[in-house]
Amino acid sequence: MAYTVPKLKDFSPAALDKAVAEFLSALDTESVGVQIESERKVFRDRWQGRKNGLLTQVNDLWLKTAPTDAKRDVGQRVNVLKSRVAETIEKLRPSVSATAVVKGLSLRTEVGQPTAYGDSSLDISLPGIRRPIGAEHPIIRTMNEIIGVFRNLGYSIAEGPVIETDYYNFESLNFPPNHPARDTQDTLFLANQESKPPRERLLLRTHTSPVQIRTMEKLKPPLRILIPGRVHRNDPPDASHSPMFHQVEGLAVDTNITFGDLKGTLDHAMKALFGSDVKTSFRPSFFPFTEPSAEVFVSCFICGGSGKRGADDAPCRPCKQAGWIEILGCGMVDPNVFEFVKRNGYDPEKVSGFAFGMGVDRIAMLKYGLDDLQLFFQGDVRFLEQFG
Ligand code: DAH
Repeated sequence: MAYTVPKLKDFSPAALDKAVAEFLSALDTESVGVQIESERKVFRDRWQGRKNGLLTQVNDLWLKTAPTDAKRDVGQRVNVLKSRVAETIEKLRPSVSATAVVKGLSLRTEVGQPTAYGDSSLDISLPGIRRPIGAEHPIIRTMNEIIGVFRNLGYSIAEGPVIETDYYNFESLNFPPNHPARDTQDTLFLANQESKPPRERLLLRTHTSPVQIRTMEKLKPPLRILIPGRVHRNDPPDASHSPMFHQVEGLAVDTNITFGDLKGTLDHAMKALFGSDVKTSFRPSFFPFTEPSAEVFVSCFICGGSGKRGADDAPCRPCKQAGWIEILGCGMVDPNVFEFVKRNGYDPEKVSGFAFGMGVDRIAMLKYGLDDLQLFFQGDVRFLEQFG
C-alpha cells in the first residue's frame, strides 16, 4: 500500500515522532525504486508537489490543525521532513557530468560497483542507450502531402478551434436552426449550454468548414486557403468510423471564380495525390453551404477502375467493385454564406468562390492499404514503426 499522510489526533512528542518515522521510512522505501529521470520527476511531484504533494499534506493535516501549544513541536519536525525530502530528491539527480565521466574512467576497475558520486554505477565501456527517433504519424504525413499539393498552387494554411459555436459550425454555413441537414452531422454538444442563446452554444466541430467563415471574417478577398484539422462526430468506433477524425478543407474566393476552376484544381490535386493515371468524376450532391455541390470520385487506383483484381478477377474491395472511390465534397460557395461576411468585402454580387472538404483518415487508409481505421489511434508501436 502506498503511503498516505494520516490525520493526527494526538500531538504529543511521542505520537509526532512515530508519525515522522513512518513518513521517513516511506520516503526511503520509495526512493529505492527510482531509476530513471521520468521516475524521479514522478517521485518529486508526489513528495514535493506544491498542490497536493505529501509535504503539502503534512503542512495542512499536521501543522495547520495542531493546537497552539504543539505548533512549535510540529513545526520543527515538519522542517526536518522538508529537508530530508529535498536531500533525497537531490541525491536521485542523474550525475553524468564531465567530472563523473572522468571519475568513471578512473573507477573502471570497479565495474558494476556503486561509485562515490551517486547510487548508480556507471560503466562507460557499455554501449549507450539508443533513443529511437520518432516518425511522422501516417495521418499527419498524409495531411502534409495534401497541404504540399495545394501549397504549390499558392494556398496558405488557416486553422481554427476544435470547440466551436453553433454559429460557426452550422448557422453561418447556411444550416438554419432545426434544418434537417444538421442531422447528417451527428454532433457532440458540450453540456450545460442551455442558458446561452442557441448560436453561442458550444459543440465539438463536426467539420473544418467553420474555419471558412472565421478566415473570411479576418482576411479580405482574394483568398486561397487550406484548412487542416481534427473534427468530432457522435459515431461509435469501428473499422471505418471514429468519434474523432481529420479533414482538410479548401476555400478559394476571387472575382470570376467558376466551376471550371474548381474542376481543374481538384482534378490536378487528385492526380498529384493518387497518381497521374487517375480520372476524376464530379457527381451532383447537396451541402447547405455550396450551390451547386458535387462529390468527387477518383477512378480506383488499386484495380485501375475495372473493379476486379488479379488473374482470377477477384472483386476489388477498396472500390467495392465500382471502379470509383469517393474522396471529397465540394461546390461553389453559396451566396447565403457570403452574406454573413459581406461587410468584409464578400459581396455575393461581386465575388464568387469554391470550397471543398476531404477526410484525411480515409485517404490515408486507401494510400496505405489498411482495412481498419482504429489502427491509427491505438498507438501500437508495431503498427506505427512501419512508417519510420
Ligand atoms: N463539410 C463537409 C462534411 O464534413 C465536407 C465539405 C463538402 C466541405 C463540401 C466543403 C464543401 O467545403 O464545399 O461533410
